[in-house]
Amino acid sequence: MSVLVVNGGRPLAGSVAVRGAKNSVLPILAATLLNAGRNVLHNCPDLRDVESAIRILRHLGCRVTREGETVTVDSSVIERWDVPDALMREMRSSVIFLGPLIARCGRACMTTPGGCELGPRPIDLHLDALRRLGVSVEEAGGRIVCEARHMEGRDIILSFPSVGATENAMLAATACSGVTRIINAAREPEICDLQEFLRKTGASVSGAGGSEIVVVGGSTRHDTEHRIIPDRIETATYLCAAAACGGDVTLCGCEPEHVGTVTSVLSEAGCEIDIAGRSIRLRADRPLRAFAPVRTMPYPGFPTDAQAQMMACACTAQGTSIFLENIFENRYRHVGELSRMGARIRVSGRVAVVEGGVPLHGASVRSTDLRGGAALVIAALAAEGESRIGDVHHIDRGYQSIECVLSRLGADIRRENE
Ligand code: EPZ
Repeated sequence: MSVLVVNGGRPLAGSVAVRGAKNSVLPILAATLLNAGRNVLHNCPDLRDVESAIRILRHLGCRVTREGETVTVDSSVIERWDVPDALMREMRSSVIFLGPLIARCGRACMTTPGGCELGPRPIDLHLDALRRLGVSVEEAGGRIVCEARHMEGRDIILSFPSVGATENAMLAATACSGVTRIINAAREPEICDLQEFLRKTGASVSGAGGSEIVVVGGSTRHDTEHRIIPDRIETATYLCAAAACGGDVTLCGCEPEHVGTVTSVLSEAGCEIDIAGRSIRLRADRPLRAFAPVRTMPYPGFPTDAQAQMMACACTAQGTSIFLENIFENRYRHVGELSRMGARIRVSGRVAVVEGGVPLHGASVRSTDLRGGAALVIAALAAEGESRIGDVHHIDRGYQSIECVLSRLGADIRRENE
């Protein structure tokens, strides 16, 4: 297992090229099953979760190659319709393969994705949406077996704008006869990117970015080429790192409008933010100021995936900041580890109160989950002294060579094998 060793207290300076969005490339890789042809995907980050998705595609019979940040998937031949437990356990969001497998093969089988570090991760909205489209869904013994009887377009009303359920419904609906309307759909930019990819393959999908998505099934599909949108959470993470450490950092190749709620909080905290086209420049002098309560919400609200990283910023700020985590039940697991670095945070249910102004000091900590791990890196960069961050595999799921990116910005950070 590897650890990240950080000697904190140094400002960051320089520029970062933002990579492709993990949460966009994963559903799009699943969607490559639909066109039974060739799919060339550019700007694909080299992440553990992306490798897991590629392993699933190869298991199903696809030929997948990678050249740098371009991944090519040939889904002409599909030999299986099951996702084995070992691969499901690698990445719970593999549930996104349900919809496209049903659409392509008429059936799908996988184990129920377990909970994860963020708490129970139910998939009831996914399965209800599939049933609505005429799919029979059997759940027994931790396995899900789906069979398409006669798939017909219907109205699907989501009780919560679930990102994954929206994606699964979109993908399954492409194989339905007639029109499917997904009402109260998720509005995340990754949904728009999936729609753009599907349209390039010939599918009739519209409305993404709004709360109603319309899919007209039955169109013929063809080969396609697509460039994945920039990763807004990676963007938010490095902005928070620059804010917490102080310095002058520019993020290139990003979509500033996708992180508007994050940059507005950082501006309130005292950062100077300049946006020019697809670049964001952040300048910050320490200490930051505390900011108004941060409430995580579905897009375009403040992203839950940036809550931990912003909390690390709050730990370095003068004053008290408050967080309300409205999306996941258990997304404060990083609090205990931040406290080992001297952070003063009190959690009660979905509310976390951060008493800033207390200097952070280096400590040995362990990543609890992907974004919680990123928060520990940020706190370690801002702390005085040496920190050792274990369970780095969580961080590697969503950040490509995080230590290389930060070293180039002047951070004293290295990876060691334990
Ligand atoms: C996606 O997860 C992202 N993952 C998550 O990013 C992100 O935190 C989340 O959306 C919210 O933005 C990917 O895109 C791969 P949801 P997803 O369905 O689709 C409940 C990261 O750090 N729910 O929108 O699983 C669920 O329990 C990851 O990159 C149900 O109750 O999120 C949660 O409380 C972490 N029933 C809420 O909805 C369901 O059937 C939001 O979940 C589905 C979800």
